[in-house]
Amino acid sequence: MVDKAFTVLGIETSCDETAAAVVRGRAPGPGEILSNIVFSQTEAHAPYGGVVPEIASRAHLEILDDMIERALDEAKTGFAELDGIAATAGPGLIGGVMVGLTTAKALALGAGKPLVAVNHLMGHAMTARLTHGVEFPFLLLLVSGGHCQLVGVGAANDFRLYGSTIDDAVGEAFDKTAKILGLPYPGGPAVERAARSGNPRAFDLPRPLLNRRGETRADFSFSGLKTAVRQLAQDKISVEDASASFQAAVIDILIDRSRMAMEMFQRDFPGSRNFVVAGGVAANQAIGSALSQLCQEEGFVIQVPPPGLCTDNAAMIAWAGVESLSAGAAGDSLSISPRARWPLAGTLIT
Ligand code: KG4
Ligand code: ZN
Repeated sequence: MVDKAFTVLGIETSCDETAAAVVRGRAPGPGEILSNIVFSQTEAHAPYGGVVPEIASRAHLEILDDMIERALDEAKTGFAELDGIAATAGPGLIGGVMVGLTTAKALALGAGKPLVAVNHLMGHAMTARLTHGVEFPFLLLLVSGGHCQLVGVGAANDFRLYGSTIDDAVGEAFDKTAKILGLPYPGGPAVERAARSGNPRAFDLPRPLLNRRGETRADFSFSGLKTAVRQLAQDKISVEDASASFQAAVIDILIDRSRMAMEMFQRDFPGSRNFVVAGGVAANQAIGSALSQLCQEEGFVIQVPPPGLCTDNAAMIAWAGVESLSAGAAGDSLSISPRARWPLAGTLIT
């Protein structure tokens, strides 16, 4: 470990948020967010009910330079004061990732600073260290639009996959349910809002893979749930009740699988009881309080980053850069390629 504070510019362009941020700190955190600028392209994609990759990459290209300038201005930092430039190199929509990574390469080359090619999932995974300085090891529930995983994190390069989704990601299930129910995009916040005034017991929706104790993996499945909502919606139903019933089913699934992963984590890391929730769906307050309750029952300490740091942002990418430099990494080669797929377990700090 290198015991010095690093100042890193972060760039995030893997989906429909164009973001730039400057973060300063050292592992294990907490770090200081000097600026954190996020432009959400929601409006551009809303008419299509989902992210259109071509529109996303064009929009990133149009505004990224401006966002970086603003992030540096707000942080009152120049290129000379940076220790590195970190950008998401995957996984994500490849056109967008290319825009961010290529920009970062050009800046790194021009400023003579190390480039850190960051795994987007690593950014989500390490956010609780940026905000709360959570020490390794911790059990991570990563719930976003593209991912749903339970991972034991032993170190910045030690990820043990306890379970993942066998079909849809949980955020995707929220987004598709919203679309079926005629709620606006992005679906997660809209379903959560509608659920607040609905009855969670109005409809008995399926909870796939529940209560399968003794298995070796804590896997998730959400596609059956989505299909059940689609069938319900053929009749005239209360959107609020359907949203609340859907969210209640999701919560039951997340709680059951997390409880199972806690057992696995305890076997790998006896005595460790840190539970971290990350990714866009972690912004959901009903899910957050159900998980807090679970942690209380199981004797775990829960950390959920604030909503703005759960959804995609560049502060988490800059922080992943800090983690990498703190671990003694010298930066990545400028010839590194963007990756549409990049599992967390394949992430190594070299
Ligand atoms: O992490 P994120 O910003 O992007 C990805 O890397 O996927 O996550 C976006 C996902 C979307 O599916 C969105 O609907 C979901 O997170 N989401 C929520 C909430 N806020 C965002 N899902 C449920 N409740 C929320 N409040
Ligand atoms: Zn994300």
